[in-house]
Amino acid sequence: MDKFVIKGGPRLQGEIPIGGSKNSALPALAAALLTDEPVTLRRIPRVRDIRTMQRLLVDIGSQAEVDGETIRLHTPRIVSSEAPYELVKTMRASSLVLGPLVARTGRARVSLPGGCAIGARPINLHLLGLEQLGARIQQAHGYIEAEAPDGLRGATIHFDRITVTGTEDLIMAAVLARGETLLRNAAREPEVADLCALLSKMGAQIEGAGTSTIHIRGVEMLHGADHTIIADRIEAGTFLIAGAITGGDLKIVDCVPEHVGALVAKLLQAGAEITQTDASSVQICVPKRLRSVDVTTEEYPGFATDLQAQYLALMTQAQGIAMLVETIFENRFMHAQEMARMGANIRLEGRQAIVAGPSELTGAGVIASDLRGSAALVLAALAARGETVIDRVYHIDRGYEKIEAKLARVGAQIRRVE
Ligand code: EPU
Repeated sequence: MDKFVIKGGPRLQGEIPIGGSKNSALPALAAALLTDEPVTLRRIPRVRDIRTMQRLLVDIGSQAEVDGETIRLHTPRIVSSEAPYELVKTMRASSLVLGPLVARTGRARVSLPGGCAIGARPINLHLLGLEQLGARIQQAHGYIEAEAPDGLRGATIHFDRITVTGTEDLIMAAVLARGETLLRNAAREPEVADLCALLSKMGAQIEGAGTSTIHIRGVEMLHGADHTIIADRIEAGTFLIAGAITGGDLKIVDCVPEHVGALVAKLLQAGAEITQTDASSVQICVPKRLRSVDVTTEEYPGFATDLQAQYLALMTQAQGIAMLVETIFENRFMHAQEMARMGANIRLEGRQAIVAGPSELTGAGVIASDLRGSAALVLAALAARGETVIDRVYHIDRGYEKIEAKLARVGAQIRRVE
């Protein structure tokens, strides 16, 4: 298992380019199942979750050609409508094939994801929505079986709570359903809008993408398309915080500044100097110690839960007391205990973390437990005195492409050891 060895201290300076969004690429890959024509997807990040999804699609019947960051998927025929436990247990987003499979073949068998490091993460809302679209859902032997032999039909679906992949799954089901579908309390994340942009190029009729009410008029078939995935806002946010925590001067390029608006607002309040240098870059400069600022995670356009861990690392270095409230997942503070081993002063109370800063962090051996929590440990290590060894970095490799190379290029002392 690979480890990162990080020597803290250097101020990061220079430019970091952002790659395509993992959480946008995953549903886009699944969407390719909706047509028997080739779909070309560009700016696909080379991370482990993408390779997992690609394996699943090949099992299902897709031919995949990869050329750098471009994947061409062609699925003339579905050979298996199943997402097996072996893949779903390593990546919950595998459930994104549920909607496309039922829409295209009238049948899907998808393993139920088990527990997860950050919370229970059920898929009940995906299933309820599919039932409303006319699918019959049964559960047996750890699998969900969905059947709609006569095809799906449009319906009005009101989500009990906002779910990102749930919204995506049901959009993909509804685009080929007979009649009209109205999704209310839908997720407004940029990744949902990006999926809708791809589906529209494939011939789907969708209105309201990026808002909480999405209107879909079902069509008989979809065709091939060529689409470039949006920039990864969580990668961009992680590097903005890397600039801040090292008191550095970093330019984050090839990103969508608006997508990190909630984080930028907090960093400005904390005292960082941030300028949007052009339509796709943001510069952060932190010449003096930051002030602590509270954060509550929310659905987009609120503060992303996927940046909470990294922000917690930053608050260990800010002056004062910050309260972080996690409202999306019930167990997303595993990184706090590891940071405490490095000297952070964090008290956990249910879904709240109270951080008193600044504390002097010292390098230690720590263990990565989930994707964003591990990225937060990298950030804490950049600010720590001495050497930190982070074990199990395969969690980071699920969602960050070459994070160590990108950080090293702007001055971080980080290396991967096998
Ligand atoms: N929920 C339900 N029932 C459902 C679906 C969700 O109760 O059927 C609950 C969840 O348990 C959670 C909340 O609703 O408490 C929101 O979950 P959501 O469904 O929005 O999460 P997700 O779609 O499984 C995506 C991202 C996550 C990100 C969340 C929240 C992908 C592939 N994953 O997950 O990304 O944290 O939205 O923004 O898009 C990551 O990249 O590290 C990551 C975990």
